[in-house]
Amino acid sequence: MESAILNAPPALAPAALPRLIDALVEQGWYVGEDVLDAALCQELHAELMARAEHDALVAAGIGRGEEHALRRDIRGDAIQWLDRESQAQRRYLAAMGELQQALNQALFLGLFEYEAHFAHYPPGAFYRRHLDSFRGRANRVVSTVGYLNPNWPADGGGEMVIFDAIDPAREVARVRPEAGHFACFLSETVPHEVLPTRLPRASIAGWFRRNASLGGLVDPAR
Ligand code: OGA
Ligand code: MN
Repeated sequence: MESAILNAPPALAPAALPRLIDALVEQGWYVGEDVLDAALCQELHAELMARAEHDALVAAGIGRGEEHALRRDIRGDAIQWLDRESQAQRRYLAAMGELQQALNQALFLGLFEYEAHFAHYPPGAFYRRHLDSFRGRANRVVSTVGYLNPNWPADGGGEMVIFDAIDPAREVARVRPEAGHFACFLSETVPHEVLPTRLPRASIAGWFRRNASLGGLVDPAR
C-alpha cells in the first residue's frame, strides 16, 4: 500500500545527502555506512535471494548492444533489472529519484533517468577493475551501489575497491558489502572493482544517465 511508504522511515538517511554531494564534488566518490534503511535492505535482500534460488537471474555480461558478451573472467555476477514489481523496489527507486533531484540541484548534472539492477555474486565471483561509462558517450554519469548483506563477516571478501581517477594504481576506498552501506561515484572517471567474494553477495548497482541521444549518439538498448 502506498500509505506504507509515507509511514516508513526515509529509505536513504537524509543526513547522508550533504556529505554525499560534498564528497562527489571534492573527490568524485562517496562511501557511507547506515545510509540505506535496514528494513528496506532486508526486504530487498530476501527478494534477490529468492530470485537467485529460483534461477530467475541472468548471467551478467559486458558491453552494450551487439558488443554484449559473457566474460566470466571479467565478471561473475547474475543480475535482474529492477522492474518496480515489489514495494521494496519502488521504495528504493523513489529514494534514488530524490537523490537525482538533489544532485541536479547542487551540481547541475542534468541527470534525467535512473536504471538499476540487483546483482548476485556467488562464492568465488568477482568483477575486475572497470569504468561504468566511457567518456564521450552520453550515458552513465553517476553510479550508485547499495549493499544488502546482513552481518557480512570481516573475512567474507567481496569488497568493492575504488581507485583514484587520476592515478588508477592508487586505492582510495574499500567498501564492505554490508547492508546499509552505500557508494556513489562518477561513472566516467572512477575505476573500481569487486574482489572475489567468499559468500553469496547481494547488491543493487544503478546509474543516473543523461539523455542518451545527446550529441547524436544513440545508446543501444541493453
Ligand atoms: C557494477 C559494479 C559494484 C558492486 O555493477 O558495475 O561495479 O559492488 N558493482 O556491486
Ligand atoms: Mn561498476
